[in-house]
Order: sequence, then structure tokens, then C-alpha cells
Amino acid sequence: MKNCRLSWALVVVLLIIVALFGYRFTVGNVQPSDDGRLAVMLTKDERNALLLEMRAWLQNSQSILSAVSKNDFETVIKTAKASGMDAEAGVPGALFRKLPVEMKALGFDTRKKFDDIAADAEKVKDGNRIVSKLSVAMNNCVACHATYRFVETAQ
Ligand code: HEC
Repeated sequence: MKNCRLSWALVVVLLIIVALFGYRFTVGNVQPSDDGRLAVMLTKDERNALLLEMRAWLQNSQSILSAVSKNDFETVIKTAKASGMDAEAGVPGALFRKLPVEMKALGFDTRKKFDDIAADAEKVKDGNRIVSKLSVAMNNCVACHATYRFVETAQ
């Protein structure tokens, strides 16, 4: 009987720990920002790593447009893939937990849209379709920037 009560106590403690982790994973490490957005609090290295990814996204988007204008579909496919889900593999778990769940969803959706551009360009090779799909993907860039900023905290 005593053992049984101890096991229940253990189950409750474990559930609380799981719930706390779940909460943290959902909400992320955010604070209100005085410009009306949400500030995602990161270390200097984490912020730099994410901003580097951002610049790669911008550069790849420009490269896709430039390649489409020359009907260079091989470059479109290669560059869109480089902005897709494969690029997500390097993100460390500790950083991932600091991002709110809506932000992660928007990020994944953007990567999936780039993978879709690559797959579509491989099949159809239609410049107008690629430009149209890229413009839809870039609505995600706009939406996320309107909602979040990255703010550096002490290490
Ligand atoms: C899931 C959210 C999210 C998405 C999607 C997103 N960004 Fe960002 N990006 C951010 C945040 C947050 C910042 C930091 C803004 C700030 O602190 O003011 C940022 C910053 C940037 C910067 C500045 C980089 C620097 O060195 O300062 C560029 C460029 C950029 N994003 C490009 C893009 C492009 C292009 C896309 C779409 C293809 C995109 N981003 C999609 C969240 C996102």
C-alpha cells in the first residue's frame, strides 16, 4: 500500500515535469516588445545563427527569381531545396525550445513551401508558377517579421 502511494506520487511529479516542459515548448522564451511585436529572447550565438539563416533565405529567394528570369530551372531546384526542410537539421534542441510553437509552425511551413517550389520546378518547369509560389511563400516572411523579433539576452 505504501509502495503504491509512493508510485502515484512519482507519477504526479513526472506529469508535472512533462507538463512544464510541454508548456515551455509551446510558449517559448518570449516577452512583449515595445514595438508591439513579441521578443524571442536568445543568446548572442543563437540570435546570430538564426539571422544567418534569414540572410540565406533572402539570398536564396533572390537567386530563385534571378534563375527564373533566365529559365535556369536547375538553379531554381537546387536553391529552393537549400531553403527547404533539409536545412532544418542543424538547429539545436535548446534553441528550438525557445521559439514559440506558432513561430516554429510558420518556419516549417516556409521550408515546406520551398521544397514544394523545388518539386514543382522539377516536374513542370513553368516560370510563372514558380514566381507565384515564391510570392505565396514570402507572405510567411512578412507575417513572421510583423509578429516577432529576436532579442539578445546575457549568455
Ligand atoms: C518564423 C518566423 C520567420 C520567418 C518565416 C522568416 N523570418 Fe526572417 N526574421 C525573423 C525574425 C524574428 C527576425 C529578426 C527581426 C528583428 O529582430 O527585428 C528576422 C530577420 C530577418 C532578416 C535580417 C537578418 C539580419 O542579419 O539582420 C532577414 C534578411 C530575413 N529575416 C529574411 C527573411 C526571408 C527572406 C524570409 C522568407 C523567405 C524570412 N526571413 C522568413 C523571423 C522569420
